[in-house]
Amino acid sequence: MSTLVIIPTYNEREALPVQLAAVRAATPEVHILVADDNSPDGTGEWADAVAAEDSHVHVLHRPGKAGLGAAYIAGFAWGLERGYDVIVEMDADGSHRAVDLPRLLAAADGADLVIGSRWVKGGSVVNWPWRRKFLSVNANRYVRLAMGIKVHDATAGFRAYRAPMLAALDLGEVESQGYCFQVDMTWRVIRGGGSVVEVPITFVERELGVSKMSGAIIREALVKVTVWGVQCRWAQLTRKA
Ligand code: GDD
Ligand code: MN
Repeated sequence: MSTLVIIPTYNEREALPVQLAAVRAATPEVHILVADDNSPDGTGEWADAVAAEDSHVHVLHRPGKAGLGAAYIAGFAWGLERGYDVIVEMDADGSHRAVDLPRLLAAADGADLVIGSRWVKGGSVVNWPWRRKFLSVNANRYVRLAMGIKVHDATAGFRAYRAPMLAALDLGEVESQGYCFQVDMTWRVIRGGGSVVEVPITFVERELGVSKMSGAIIREALVKVTVWGVQCRWAQLTRKA
């Protein structure tokens, strides 16, 4: 089973070296694609230098900051073209611990989408301010309620997809730019008949660099989840009628 771990980056020059080394050590066989949005801090150039020395590391340069969603869509296409069996999403900042990756990959044997979940039994978040915890817990409650999906951590950014599942989705349709991209993808897998499992993880807030979370990202998520929720309910009603 060949695996590609996509790490999207925007100004992660401090954090990426630590995360890259951790992933290489925990899972020496996997390949890594850094999807960099032309970070002004030189993250992309640094990754190029590593890729020149290490055949397991690849870099996808994007012209400018276009959001997490767009970076992943481009990364998925890159990975599908090259025939990887499993494609993983992982943050650059160490919040997604490389030591949890083998458990995610093991679970991908039995599911189309494996979510590294903070909000199932055994999952947790370390060092988040209460506001951030509140936001994530309630965003996920809202997703479950509005969209009627049973996933506990639909906004999670640590996940493994089986490649045929991604290949079956029309990724060109995905418009979500910010973190609601994760909800969007979860819903697409479910609608596409894919199986989803949640594996508990410990999410550790970053110590290096800064979060790219913003008001715009929250607003996009709120609007989109509400629209998707109405669409879900409408579909349920018209099916019953
Ligand atoms: N290429 C690219 N372009 N990468 C980006 C962009 C972008 O516009 N925005 C963020 N990233 C990268 C960051 O560099 C990092 O590697 C990863 O995406 C996550 O960004 P953070 O800014 O560290 O996110 P967070 O810690 O606030 O949010 C976490 O929780 C969210 C909500 O549950 C992440 O795990 C998200 O994936 C998750 O959706
Ligand atoms: Mn982070």
